[in-house]
Amino acid sequence: MMDIHSHILPGIDDGASSMDETLGIVRQLQEAGFNTLIATPHVMDGNSYAKPAEILAATERVKKCILEAGIHVDILPGAENYIFPDMVNWVLEGKLLTLGNTKKYLLVELPLLEIPLYTDHVFFNLQVNGITPVLAHPERYKALSEKPERLLEWAKKGILFQLNLRSLSGKYGPQPLRLAKLLLQNHLIHFIGSDAHRVSRNPFAYKEVLRHLHEIPGEKLCHEFYVPRPAMQEPQ
Ligand SMILES: [Fe+2]
Repeated sequence: MMDIHSHILPGIDDGASSMDETLGIVRQLQEAGFNTLIATPHVMDGNSYAKPAEILAATERVKKCILEAGIHVDILPGAENYIFPDMVNWVLEGKLLTLGNTKKYLLVELPLLEIPLYTDHVFFNLQVNGITPVLAHPERYKALSEKPERLLEWAKKGILFQLNLRSLSGKYGPQPLRLAKLLLQNHLIHFIGSDAHRVSRNPFAYKEVLRHLHEIPGEKLCHEFYVPRPAMQEPQ
């Protein structure tokens, strides 16, 4: 089972702050049943954004420490990319990292309150360039919970959706919980992610939610993210 959304690279974003914390998160996710994690630090345009080379190097460091700690979990590089109008060119220029660095799927985050007017344009431009947008936690956006038919339109166009596991335990409130269930029941969730930033106080948090997930009709349509191996490539 693969977790395609996690903030486990130490010191890159607001996720794990040390390698010890990284190992703690990875152990919890392994305990929940994940054997592959994609490290997806926040990336925004601007001067201080996490560069692909930095993410790839940090991923390698984490892989090495995990191996030394005897934990059998694979780590792949990625990024959670906050949407901006010029996003497509940044991907094509190798300035944004796709999931697994396969140049096929891009994890995209939207502002939580308003959906930018250029969102459809960015999604379309990614798709015509052979890159499938994967929308991070669609259940968490206020504008989409008020108008979920927008998600159906995107799904019909081939946009893929990643559910945050703990939306199902109510971590983000009643609206995300309701939308998460609605999306699952309508077979609109393609991937799952922990969106883990730190060690959970409840060591069984992910395990409990996964058990709950299996009780929801439609869950079986969750995809396994396929990354051909060896697939690691250097950034352009
Ligand atoms: Fe995230």
